[in-house]
Amino acid sequence: MIQVEALEKVYPGRKGQAGVKAVDNISFGVHEGELLGFLGPNGAGKTTTVKMLCGLIRPSSGRIFINGIDLLQRRISALADVSAVLEGNRNIYWRLTAQENLEFFAAVRGLNPARLRNEIGYYLKLFNLTEKRDVEARKLSRGMQQKLAIAVALISQSKVVLLDEPTLGLDVQASYEIRQLLKQIVKEQGRTVILTTHDMNVVQDACQRVIIVNEGRIVANDSVHNLLDLFKVKVYRITVQGGLTAEQRQALLAMEEVIIEEESPIQTAISVRLEESQILYRVIGVLESNHSPIESIDQDQNNFERVFLQILEGGSQGA
Ligand SMILES: Nc1ncnc2c1ncn2[C@@H]1O[C@H](COP(=O)(O)OP(=O)(O)OP(=O)(O)O)[C@@H](O)[C@H]1O
Ligand SMILES: [Mg+2]
Repeated sequence: MIQVEALEKVYPGRKGQAGVKAVDNISFGVHEGELLGFLGPNGAGKTTTVKMLCGLIRPSSGRIFINGIDLLQRRISALADVSAVLEGNRNIYWRLTAQENLEFFAAVRGLNPARLRNEIGYYLKLFNLTEKRDVEARKLSRGMQQKLAIAVALISQSKVVLLDEPTLGLDVQASYEIRQLLKQIVKEQGRTVILTTHDMNVVQDACQRVIIVNEGRIVANDSVHNLLDLFKVKVYRITVQGGLTAEQRQALLAMEEVIIEEESPIQTAISVRLEESQILYRVIGVLESNHSPIESIDQDQNNFERVFLQILEGGSQGA
């Protein structure tokens, strides 16, 4: 559905200054019906990539195909299949009500008026906005505005939906709802979705595959499942009563798998990254050397956040 080849974007610099290479030779494809997460630290080039995919900015080089159509050669036909929500909620009109926004954008996209009523009712209900249908967009809460913006993108029926940080600034409940909705529209309607996010819950919960970019380059492109597997690291958290002696502290700090997370005269918490089981015994040995009473040893689940940080630290594993 989407094919990106050797895409690059250099933003020109100001007089005399060097430009910024925001996207540096990236290639990837997205299947129909796939929900792809696009991750990376601030400034990695995510928004720039999304803007190129929806035709807002022109690549410096490379090619983009949407449903087989060359976006740079046949812009209008290629973009007929794309809708996007950028930077929160810019694609809705503040002075139109929720319902009017949906009507307007459906009409702009040439949706058949006979189907319109049903569709609008469907999306208002799906996004829990039925009660707010006659409220002006500017008077909705941030989360509701965000949901309306996504609904507007969906009502166009476009096969490809691009969402730049769809859950940014939303509360836990709204973020959860949006995740469920995205999964639903991919599953039920076979849409193809690319979303950028810093929210690891979104990744773990909703995305099938992720592409991780750093400094404009792809450093990983794999299923969430595989990446979690590939970086299977157990982390144990050990809590002991009281503080540590200077010798204990020194011995623990010398082990690179160990982090002293907190230390006070009352309680000390240590986390141990477990690449091999020996390390846990060595840590316990250090604690026993001064008879520090161990209160608990808990296993922490490996999560996508840790995987993400490891990939960024370790370079190109999995790419
Ligand atoms: N209009 C612009 N003009 C010049 N440089 C830009 C412009 N937009 C972005 N950049 C630069 O391009 C790089 C990538 O920015 P981009 O917004 O794509 O990052 P991002 O991955 O979306 O980051 P974030 O997670 O903070 O949203 C950054 O170095 C940024 O400063
Ligand atoms: Mg961005």
